[in-house]
Amino acid sequence: MLVSAKEMLQKARKEGYAVGQFNINNLEWTKAVLQTAQEANSPVILGVSEGAGKYMCGFSTVAAMVREMIKNLKITVPVALHLDHGSYEAALACIDAGFSSVMFDGSHYPIEENITKTKELVRITGEKGISLEAEVGSIGGEEDGVVGTGEFADPAECEMMKDLGVTMLAAGIGNIHGKYPANWPGLSFETLEAISKRVGDLPLVLHGGTGIPEDQIKKAISLGVSKINVNTECQLAFAEATRKYIEAGKDLEGKGFDPRKLLAPGTDAIKATVREKMELFGSVNKA
Ligand code: 13P
Repeated sequence: MLVSAKEMLQKARKEGYAVGQFNINNLEWTKAVLQTAQEANSPVILGVSEGAGKYMCGFSTVAAMVREMIKNLKITVPVALHLDHGSYEAALACIDAGFSSVMFDGSHYPIEENITKTKELVRITGEKGISLEAEVGSIGGEEDGVVGTGEFADPAECEMMKDLGVTMLAAGIGNIHGKYPANWPGLSFETLEAISKRVGDLPLVLHGGTGIPEDQIKKAISLGVSKINVNTECQLAFAEATRKYIEAGKDLEGKGFDPRKLLAPGTDAIKATVREKMELFGSVNKA
């Protein structure tokens, strides 16, 4: 069932768990995430960055693939198809293409401009019943060639975003995309608590879910995080399983070169990673 992320996140916020956003890159990725969500009876958000959208031949190709997969795989758990870190133009393109959720990342603009553009998107998405994620305080690390240094969001700016009527808010609290460096000081719970106080029951989004220790994930959820984004960890799991298959020479045995065989261990590794995250986030059996 393709739905907006609004209800699933409000339910998660109220009941004290988080819904995972897993970024997708191709057919195998999408199928793995959808099947795992169904098996775990968990709501799920499929994240699509602008780069991944381009790679998969455009947002409308992605939307059609996801819609048809949901139908043909008989997926009955709530699924949101979400633009990850989009520009204003990409958000409009995804709304047109049939996405059920979009993120407008205006964190690199001065706050006034971020607010003006976000406000316009609140109106457009509101008319169509599509959920909208906004961001304040950029998240560090690299994603699609865009490198952010990572900031702590200003709680007052978070409150302004809540007042605009966004569905969920990504706020930098020392989290970064990709692997965390050995000297990473951890999430700033002081910042998260201050934000939580200002935004009440607005679902908060934790980007850079890869490699955050379990206790910090659980504490973040207890302080209002209701959506956690995971991308790199699935990529690492896929690559490792695929490498093992090749290194064991399995592609040279019989029809082991058939992509349906060659990509199977990587796909299973994505499924295992997604399942593990759903259990940690507490979304199993919450569909
Ligand atoms: P990771 O790649 O660090 O898991 O981050 C994913 C993310 O935040 C997507 O927006």
